Amino acid sequence: MSYVKLPIFDQTGYVVVDSYDQSRDAREWENLVYVDWKSSGDTRFAPLASAYGDMECDGFWNHTPAKTDKDGVWVPENVAIAPRLTERAQEPGANIGRCRVIELQPNTYADAIYNLHRDDNNRLNPEGTGWIVRAFCNLTNNQDSVMILREDKDDPATETRIPLPAGAQLVLDTQRLYHAVWHPGSEPRYCLITSYESGPELDAWISARHPAALVPSAPVDPDFAQEAYAAANAKRAAREAALAAQGADPTFGNGTLSAAMEVLSEA
Ligand SMILES: [Fe+2]
Repeated sequence: MSYVKLPIFDQTGYVVVDSYDQSRDAREWENLVYVDWKSSGDTRFAPLASAYGDMECDGFWNHTPAKTDKDGVWVPENVAIAPRLTERAQEPGANIGRCRVIELQPNTYADAIYNLHRDDNNRLNPEGTGWIVRAFCNLTNNQDSVMILREDKDDPATETRIPLPAGAQLVLDTQRLYHAVWHPGSEPRYCLITSYESGPELDAWISARHPAALVPSAPVDPDFAQEAYAAANAKRAAREAALAAQGADPTFGNGTLSAAMEVLSEA
């Protein structure tokens, strides 16, 4: 048996839909309660839906009882502060797992390449049900920032860079694609991230918004890129050496490390 997946993701693993007119809404994210849970210091999260409605952002599988990234429970305090963001998350009508606003501090292209990771959205997800994908609705106007996607983590030729102006809306198979955001601004970036179950509801929401499964990649200077790749590789090698010295498994197949990277470098 396999999972229910939407065909529009077959080609690239991502889809860009019509932008939302962010200017018509209040800046609710400015008043949300953010938690530092397991944060690297570069990101904070404001949960709108968590595993059991508490003000925390842990993976649903880390709770008792453990659950997959579905049936998120709304966090009353933040929902009261951000009713419009909550409505937007609920708009597709698909089953929602984790739903939160991320605050990302400025970083470099090399940081983002180093942070490339895949999510673990479908842990404990029963086969035969809908595959979990994630929607990213950019809240702040970060025209010079990009969502970096790679099919192969180590192959720049597989990279797509999607610009993130206010209102940009992407749905990503984040368990298939390596992803991270390069945010070169001077202020934090805010983005609404929601886990959805693939199925007819999400399909209808995407289909009604002129979906594009292949978009032009934002340009990057080749020499600049090569320097960034070298810096990211050096940082990765140093991390793996440090982990090996501690006796830890440095590979990304290590569940603990993968989970930690997901938190530290969430897009
Ligand atoms: Fe992620």
